[in-house]
Amino acid sequence: TTDVDLVVVGSGFFGLTIAERCAAELGKRVLVIDRRDHIGGNAYSEADPETGIEVHRYGAHLFHTSNPTVWEYVNRFTAFTDYVHKVYTTHGGEVFPLPINLGTINQFFRSAHGPAAARDLVASQASEVDSSNVANLEEKAISLIGRPLYEAFIRDYTAKQWQTSPSELPAEIISRLPVRYTYDNRYFNDAHEGLPVDGYTAWIERMADHPLIEVRLSTDFFDESQPINKTALVGKVPIVYTGPVDRYFDYTRGELAWRTLDFEREVLPIGDYQGTSVMNYADEETPYTRIHEFRHFHPEREHPADKTIIMREYSRFAEREDEPYYPVNTPADREKLLAYRELAKAEAAVYFGGRLGTYQYLDMHMAIGSALSMFENKLKPAFG
Ligand code: FAD
Ligand code: NA
Repeated sequence: TTDVDLVVVGSGFFGLTIAERCAAELGKRVLVIDRRDHIGGNAYSEADPETGIEVHRYGAHLFHTSNPTVWEYVNRFTAFTDYVHKVYTTHGGEVFPLPINLGTINQFFRSAHGPAAARDLVASQASEVDSSNVANLEEKAISLIGRPLYEAFIRDYTAKQWQTSPSELPAEIISRLPVRYTYDNRYFNDAHEGLPVDGYTAWIERMADHPLIEVRLSTDFFDESQPINKTALVGKVPIVYTGPVDRYFDYTRGELAWRTLDFEREVLPIGDYQGTSVMNYADEETPYTRIHEFRHFHPEREHPADKTIIMREYSRFAEREDEPYYPVNTPADREKLLAYRELAKAEAAVYFGGRLGTYQYLDMHMAIGSALSMFENKLKPAFG
């Protein structure tokens, strides 16, 4: 069927890291397939035709890592800008900085507290609910940050994310709600952060740009009308599979639940819509959760002065045909996942990885780090 040493299903960061390592370090011939018509998985970006501004098609992607191995690896393919991510939120007709920090607290309570006084205030408000005895997400959140901050910044936003009232959501969805008792509103705490200088797609294309790597797009692993499919290949050639694990096993142990996002793009005839890259909308009356304005991710680039592109983001439960974005991860999902892991272990010479193959939310650096580990610990010993 094919004269390659390895087939990789999925050209996201997990699949391409595997392909690049196996080609460049082991000299293996690798065939990468993807059912989409572009490489890069959810990190894919493209220039908007009307404004030329780089748009992240599947939601804003910010690279950050504290892992030195990953940082060294990604720098082989791209340089990074010095972009530092910050997020703001609109509540009650006012804009506040996130994550909740001393600035948020003092603006919200019209106070001038130092760190100790702010801590005392939040602790006394949080004491309304005993954190060891919470029945739902709402009680859990109140036990962590108190009712006023919860109702302003968490309640409606969470309800919009889940289309469910937090009083009906399980407490386990959140383990902590970060509150910073400084004015630092850097979104990420990692040692390294930035955006790829030439964009995500240029980075991703460089990873795939090796004479031993062939990429075939618009090719679905479960489509038996084309030659690179599951029935034809499993057991004949090693496979790294980064698609949904439940789909691989024909949903025999049930469907794993995901949330998806809907994105609505609009080009506006102004040079700057919101003055920042990401604005959350904390209140119920605004149906979307946030607006991305992509020009602000690259202030170092030349952009049109009279046009900007924004993307509104809406969140909901995914149906089977939707793009799966965030694992819902209920206890029932975790049980199904354990059953799928057993099936995956028994599937000879098929390696399951990436966010869909392991039913895990993975940031880009985690997907890359996990692929580097699979390469070192499994693939290299197996056929290196
Ligand atoms: P993916 O990128 O999903 O790639 C999987 C690929 O497999 C896809 O291209 C898919 O088409 C293909 N595939 C699936 N089934 C088949 C099949 N049957 N046949 C062929 N191909 C198939 N990370 C960050 O670090 N920072 C961020 O700011 C950030 N923001 C995010 C925002 C959103 C909305 C989402 C959803 C994710 C975000 N991430 C972010 C995470 C990032 O997208 C992932 O880390 C990355 O996509 C993981 O790569 P992956 O290869 O595991 O999966
Ligand atoms: Na296996």
